[in-house]
Amino acid sequence: MPDVAASPSLEELWMPFTANRAFKRAPRMLVAAKDMYYTAADGRQILDGSAGLWCVNAGHCRETITAAIREQAGVMDYAPPFQMGHPLAFELAQHLARMLPEGIDHVFFGNSGSEAVDTSLKIALAYWQAKGEPERVRFIGRSRGYHGVGFGGIAVGGIEANRKQFAAQMLPAVDHLPHTHDLASNAYTRGQPQHGAHFADALEDLVTKHGAHTIAAVIIEPVAGSTGVIIPPKGYLERLRAICDKHGILLIFDEVITGFGRLGASFAAEKFGVVPDMMTVAKGITNATVPMGAVCVRHAIYDTVVNSASAGIELFHGYTYSGHPLAAAAGLATLEVYRTEGLFERAASLESFWADAVHSLRGAPHVIDLRNIGIVGAVELEPRPGAPGARGFETFLKCFEAGVLVRSTADTIALSPPLIVERDQITHMFEVLGNVLRSVA
Ligand SMILES: Cc1ncc(COP(=O)(O)O)c(C=O)c1O
Repeated sequence: MPDVAASPSLEELWMPFTANRAFKRAPRMLVAAKDMYYTAADGRQILDGSAGLWCVNAGHCRETITAAIREQAGVMDYAPPFQMGHPLAFELAQHLARMLPEGIDHVFFGNSGSEAVDTSLKIALAYWQAKGEPERVRFIGRSRGYHGVGFGGIAVGGIEANRKQFAAQMLPAVDHLPHTHDLASNAYTRGQPQHGAHFADALEDLVTKHGAHTIAAVIIEPVAGSTGVIIPPKGYLERLRAICDKHGILLIFDEVITGFGRLGASFAAEKFGVVPDMMTVAKGITNATVPMGAVCVRHAIYDTVVNSASAGIELFHGYTYSGHPLAAAAGLATLEVYRTEGLFERAASLESFWADAVHSLRGAPHVIDLRNIGIVGAVELEPRPGAPGARGFETFLKCFEAGVLVRSTADTIALSPPLIVERDQITHMFEVLGNVLRSVA
């Protein structure tokens, strides 16, 4: 073992999506977690208002999940997934397939949301090639979309800050739909906004521009999370589905955040009653205990790519850790917790209490919009003139100091706790946030 002091140097670690220098001057360290709370290095209890990074859906350090991981680590730590298998990966795929919308019944495992997204784009290309339409190569993402950090994900993603350092090497055939965030028409909506189904019609314009025969797939987050919680207007997803159907374009829902109960349903596809052709999932699949992601595909996609291929490997894609035994064990135990504790139903039963709590901040300083769906909420703040994001980040810092973990993206504060959250904890989160807003310049 290397000889490391009890308090390690902060220098060597290059932290992701972090202002490294500022963090290392004033670190925020978490050292333990249980159920709804983190313990900070100074011993303070921090109420987890963001389920970690939208991923700890069943709450922290759940005994049956950690026990399953421990047990599997002692039985078989690793099994190669290429030309070999182990039962737990098959079992997890089977359990997952049972939860998926009708018709989506095959699962490809990776280790993250980013990998799931890039995998889904590759599957789309492989599908069209196998189907004899190899000219369908174009991907359509959406402005303000977040699909992780792979080259595929940032190309179809629509967050400029994530693209500009890498802009010299984007995927070449990508276009974007407009986002649906429309404060002028929809501010302070509870649930799905009334106005904005027409934003889907931009897909018709892209079809006219490029020709449907060149478009492989559309990928969107049904509810955009990382870009500040953008909730689909009523009728929007239905219209997007209809236009994809009309032109034979695959529709991919990136359900990395929306999956596993966060919207008060198993998936956004169930919540909104719109079924895509592929779904990417990650985060809540293992309650974030062991990294895992997956692409879930319609029967016809698997059938076309796999069953119609000549003998041999059908898809030249996969990861050393696809369906890793520890992740599979964690996933199975996690799905069991969701099922036995009825956590998706629990989230649904909290939705209206949650909505009231979110909208209790109406009139609080700096607030220009409040929105909610399932147990996801967003508090959009007026940006400081000339300093976009500064007010949001200061709000995040002050909430942390006050013992509540929230997420800030630019000037939107997003909250979405583990599904085990209690009503008084919800009330506390929004009281703290309200107090912080009154103290933030
Ligand atoms: C919708 C969506 N897709 C993909 C990702 C990327 O997931 P990961 O960070 O596990 O690569 C995220 C992460 O937040 C996400 O929210």
